[in-house]
Amino acid sequence: MIKIASSILAANFARLESHAREAISAGADWLHIDVMDGHFVPNITIGPLIVEALRPLREETGALLDVHLMIEEPDRFLGDFVNAGADIITVQVEACVHLHRTVQRIKELGAKAGVTLIPATSLTTLEEVLPDVDLALIMSVNPGFGGQSYIPASTEKIKRLRAMLDSIHSKAWLEVDGGINASNAAEVVQAGATVLVAGSAVFGGNKSVGENVKALQSAIA
Ligand code: DX5
Ligand code: ZN
Repeated sequence: MIKIASSILAANFARLESHAREAISAGADWLHIDVMDGHFVPNITIGPLIVEALRPLREETGALLDVHLMIEEPDRFLGDFVNAGADIITVQVEACVHLHRTVQRIKELGAKAGVTLIPATSLTTLEEVLPDVDLALIMSVNPGFGGQSYIPASTEKIKRLRAMLDSIHSKAWLEVDGGINASNAAEVVQAGATVLVAGSAVFGGNKSVGENVKALQSAIA
C-alpha cells in the first residue's frame, strides 16, 4: 500500500488544523512537517510547537506526524520533537557527523528513524545505517522550498535505493519528497517508492484538497 504524506508547508497556516484535516479526510495517510533552520537550508519554517498543535488531529485520525528535519545539529532537538508528538523523525545525512548515533537516539526516544540526502549526495552515505532505519527518503528537489520541479534523475536514484533496501531484506519505507504530482507519481512508485510526499499537489492549485488527493491516488492506483 502506497502512502501519501501531505506536506503542510503548502497549507494555509492561518487555518492549519482544518486544512490538514481536509487532506486526511480525503485519504492522505500522513502529515509531513518540514522543519528548516535558515542554516542547513536557506529558509526558516516551524518547530516543535506546530507538531504539538497537530497532535490532537493525529490522535483523532491516526495520521502519523512525519517530521523532516532540515536543520544543523539535529541531535539537539530530537527530544523536543518526540515530546511534541513526532512519530517519525528524518534527518539529513549531511547534517549528522555521527549518523549511526543519531539514528539510535531517535529510536531510543521512541520514534521511527528516517534518513535522507540532498540530490547531490551519494546513496553510499546511507549504506552503513540502512539496516537500522525505518525510513529512507530521497529528496527529489534541493531542500528549502515547496513548489519546485521534480529533478528527473531522482527516478534512477529511487531505483538504486530500492535495490539496496531489497538486498538487505529491509522493510523500511522508501519515501520521496519534492515536486511530486499526479503526472509523475506513477513513475516514482514504479521506481520503488512506498511513501509520496506532496505539498503543492495537495494544498495548492485551483482544485479542492479532496480532489487533489483523489488525483494522486488514482495516479498511483
Ligand atoms: C522541500 C520540502 C518538501 C516540500 C515539498 O524542502 O522538504 O517536503 O514541502 O513540497 P512540494 O510537494 O510542493 O514540492
Ligand atoms: Zn520534506
